[in-house]
This record gives sequence, C-alpha cells and structure tokens, in this order.
Amino acid sequence: MERYQARDVNSDMSFLEMLDVVNENLIAEGKEPIAFEHDCREGICGSCGFMINGIAHGPQRGTTVCQLHMRHFKDGDELYLEPWRAYAFPVLKDLVVDRNAFDRIISAGGYITVHTGSAPDGNALPVPKVDSDRAMDAAACIGCGACVAACPNASAALFTGAKISHLGLLPQGQAERDRRALRMVAQYNQELFGSCTNIGECEAVCPKEIRLEVIARMNRDYLKAKWRDRGRLADPDHG
Ligand code: SF4
Ligand code: FES
Repeated sequence: MERYQARDVNSDMSFLEMLDVVNENLIAEGKEPIAFEHDCREGICGSCGFMINGIAHGPQRGTTVCQLHMRHFKDGDELYLEPWRAYAFPVLKDLVVDRNAFDRIISAGGYITVHTGSAPDGNALPVPKVDSDRAMDAAACIGCGACVAACPNASAALFTGAKISHLGLLPQGQAERDRRALRMVAQYNQELFGSCTNIGECEAVCPKEIRLEVIARMNRDYLKAKWRDRGRLADPDHG
C-alpha cells in the first residue's frame, strides 16, 4: 500500500476527478501517477472500478466510481483503494486489472444471428412488454467486474447471467439460445471464475443493479440446453 494525500479537493468533484488532482500533483513533484482505468466517466462504459474501503465502486449504491462524488466523504477521511481481486482478473498496475476474461466469455456466445441489409421495421417483430423490460434490465450490465470483485468465490455468474439473459429473452436471440448458454458457461468455467453460492454480494455492489434472477435464468437455460443436447445425441435421426 502507498499513502497519498489528496489536497485541493472539493465536494463537487467525482472520485476520478479527485484522483486526477492527486495525479497532477504527483506528476508536478516528478513522481509516478496512480494508474486507474476510465473512459466515459458517465457510468456507461464499464472501464472504471476499484475497491474503496473494501466496497466495489465505493459506498454509494448503484453508482460507478466515475459517478461517485466527493460530497459522500468527509474532509480528512482515510480511504483504502484496491484493485479488483480475483484470480481471473490479474492486476496490471495499481488499480488496473486485466478483464479480458469477460471479453472471452462474450466472444464464446454473446451474439445473435441477423440478416444483413436494410433495417427491419420496428413493429415487424413483436416483443412482449414484460420480456423487453427484463431484457433491457439485463442489458444494463456494463461489464465492470464489480460483481466478481465483491463475491467471496470470485464468481462471474451475475455478469454471465446478464449477458445470457438479455439476448435469451428476445425473439432475435432464440437461434443461438442453447449454444450461447453452453458456450458462455463453458468459457466462464475455463477462465477459473468461482461458482455461485447465492451469497448476493454481486447484486449489492452492481452499479447497474442487475438482479440475481439473471443467474437463475442462466442456470435454467444451461440445464435445458444440456438436456436437449443429450436428447439429440441419443436420437439416431439427429445424431
Ligand atoms: S453485473 Fe453489474 S457488477 Fe457485474 S459486470 Fe455487469 S454491471 Fe458490473
Ligand atoms: S468511466 Fe465509464 S463507467 Fe466509469
């Protein structure tokens, strides 16, 4: 651990702006700045994220560190910043970890079959409201990795469940539904994320408030796909 003093901080700054000020002072003193990831700074890209006093993304529920403001802390507070800790997220430097494991899970099945050409009419494919709402809720996952960091098992079940759910709930996602569940879960296991034991820390820290129900949906899709796969193998007509 390194100790830094944050001076010239005001309550309207975001947490990352506070780190910018600390870094500018470090650079002016000829020292190495603190490495951290960021991009949009609007809570939508999923680049930022680290532990603040042991809580992924800090103390404010449903908030990424880029959207967290210094008014939630007191002058003189001592804050412990740490990178995500998980075997599948090796630390690169300071607060930056390698989250390529998430990209590989997406590559394994997080896509749909579409016909290229002109865009289809918006009303051509009706989607029940309840399904579109659930799909949109799951699609809010920004892939930040806080769920993995908060989980005592370093499980990526909330992330993988969100990605499987948001496509599996829509008609456009049906063509690869079985294959998606099988491949994404297999990749998740290969990345050596831990298993889910329903602790719920992931849901508590998720800045997009993804619900645990996506994990149940992932498990259901996976089991159904597995049974169908076995049935196909046992059926000589579909061998
Ligand atoms: S489920 Fe939530 S915590 Fe996990 S990667 Fe997605 S947005 Fe981040
Ligand atoms: S920098 Fe994009 S979500 Fe925080």
